[in-house]
Amino acid sequence: MKVLFVCLGNICRSPLAEGLFREMLRREGLEGRVEVDSAGTSDYHVGEPPHPGVRRLARQYGFSLDGKRARQLTAQDLARYDLIVAMDRSNLDEILTLSPEARGKAHLLMDFAKAPEKDVHDPYYTGDFEWTYRQVEAGCRGLLQHVKGRLGVVPPPASPS
Ligand code: 4NP
Repeated sequence: MKVLFVCLGNICRSPLAEGLFREMLRREGLEGRVEVDSAGTSDYHVGEPPHPGVRRLARQYGFSLDGKRARQLTAQDLARYDLIVAMDRSNLDEILTLSPEARGKAHLLMDFAKAPEKDVHDPYYTGDFEWTYRQVEAGCRGLLQHVKGRLGVVPPPASPS
């Protein structure tokens, strides 16, 4: 299964989601079963490493962003990935403009969280990386359950009492 996270610049929100989700999969022993990547709808930061604020979160919360460089989303990505996860509604609009056929597999990250907000806050403009982290963490936890369901990974039966 292939999961692609998408934001505007691919230096803040989507690399954070990529690194955190890959770490969640690793902890479940599922990293070999799910390919994870991220891309931006713009070319503003192509080739750059994640924002220093996101690199600080990675150190603080124990996940890796080694080697990640920003890249721009392509129509081929939207054909190739099974699940496209947008950080906000404007990212989702861009995705559907690039490829209307992606509608069935493109979702907002926050749709996987039990939270009323729709959009992941963009820390590029405010510097509030902790707020973004909390949202992305909640979204990725819900996404993990969804992916486990699609992979047919079921929880072990309750032990007899
Ligand atoms: P991201 O944040 O989409 O979460 O990577 C942004 C990064 C760069 C810009 C805007 C948002 N920018 O305008 O350069």
